[in-house]
Amino acid sequence: MSNRKWTFILIPVLLLFGWLLFQFTLSSFQIHQFAEQLKAVSPKDRGSDTKVVLISQELDNYYWRSIEQGARKEAKQYGMRLDYIGPDRINPSEQIKLLDKAIASKADAILVQGINDPEYRRLINKAAGLGIPVITIDTDEPDSRRLAYVGTDNEGAGKQMGVLLAKASGEHGDIGVMISNERVENQRLRLAGFRSVISRYPNLHIVEIRSSNISRLQAAQQAQNMLTRYPQIRYMVGFSALDGLGILEASERRGAQNLQIFAFDDMAETLKAIKDRKIELTIVQQPEEMGAKAIKLLNDYLKGSHPQELTYTRVYEVHADTSDDKSGDDRR
Ligand code: BGC
Repeated sequence: MSNRKWTFILIPVLLLFGWLLFQFTLSSFQIHQFAEQLKAVSPKDRGSDTKVVLISQELDNYYWRSIEQGARKEAKQYGMRLDYIGPDRINPSEQIKLLDKAIASKADAILVQGINDPEYRRLINKAAGLGIPVITIDTDEPDSRRLAYVGTDNEGAGKQMGVLLAKASGEHGDIGVMISNERVENQRLRLAGFRSVISRYPNLHIVEIRSSNISRLQAAQQAQNMLTRYPQIRYMVGFSALDGLGILEASERRGAQNLQIFAFDDMAETLKAIKDRKIELTIVQQPEEMGAKAIKLLNDYLKGSHPQELTYTRVYEVHADTSDDKSGDDRR
C-alpha cells in the first residue's frame, strides 16, 4: 500500500484512540469525584444511623450522668443515636470489656474515659484502624490513636488547688488528701499538679493520701481513719466529685474543729456545704460541656474537618463568697 493510503487509515484510528483515551480519563475523574463525595457523606449524613457509644467510669455517678446529658442534647441536634453504658461500680477491666464490645457492635464512634492501660490503648488503636473515631473525655489516653481529648487540664486543676490551699492556709499546716484511686489517671495528674505547688512551701506537708474509689461512703471511712491517725491535719482535699462530702461526713462525725475542706465539682450538696461554710471551696469542672463538645467535635470530624487534639474545658472555683455567682470572676 502506498504511504497516502496508510495515512488515510491511521488518522481515523489515531482519532478513535484519542477519543477513547479522553473518555477513559473523563470517567476515571468522575468516579474519583463520586468516591470523594461518598467519603464526605459517610457516615456523617447517615443521621440517626450514626451510633455513638459513651462509656462511663461508673454508670449512675452524677458526674457521668452530666456528661451523658450534655452529649445526649448535642447528639439529638445532629440526629445521632447515643448509647450510654458503663460499669455499675468503678471497674477499669469492665471499661476495657465495654470498649471491646462497642467495637464489635460496629459503633460509628466511641467516647471513653482514658484509663492509662496498654490493653485499652490497643483497643482504641484497633477502633481507629477500623475507621471508628474514639474521643477521650474527662481523662486523656495520650499514647493511643484517639482522635482528640475533651476535658479538664487535670494537672492544671491540681496546681490551681495547690495555689488555693497555700493561700487559705497561710502556707502552713498538715494536709490529708483523698483521691479516687492512684491508678486513675486524672487523679494522678491532679495530685502531681497539687504536689508541685505544695512542695514550694516548706511548712506545708501532705501527711497522708487515701483512696475513696469514687464512693462517698469510702471517702468518709478513709477520712475518718486519716483523722484518727493524724489528728493534727488542718486541711483536707478531695480530688473527685464525692470526696469532699465524704470528708465532711467524717469531720462532723468526729466533731473535728478547725478542719478546712477543699472539694472538686459542683454537686448540689457540695454547693450547699460551701454556702453553709462547712466546705471551704470547690473546683468546678464542666462535665455537661465536655459531653456536648465531644459530640460537636465528632460531628465536625464526620463532616470532614480535622479536630484539634486537645480541647480543655474550663474550671472555676466556688467559695462561700462566690457561691451565689457561679459565673463570676473565678472562671479561667
Ligand atoms: C472526676 C471523674 C470522676 C468523678 C467521680 C470527677 O472529679 O473528674 O473522673 O468520675 O469525679 O465522682
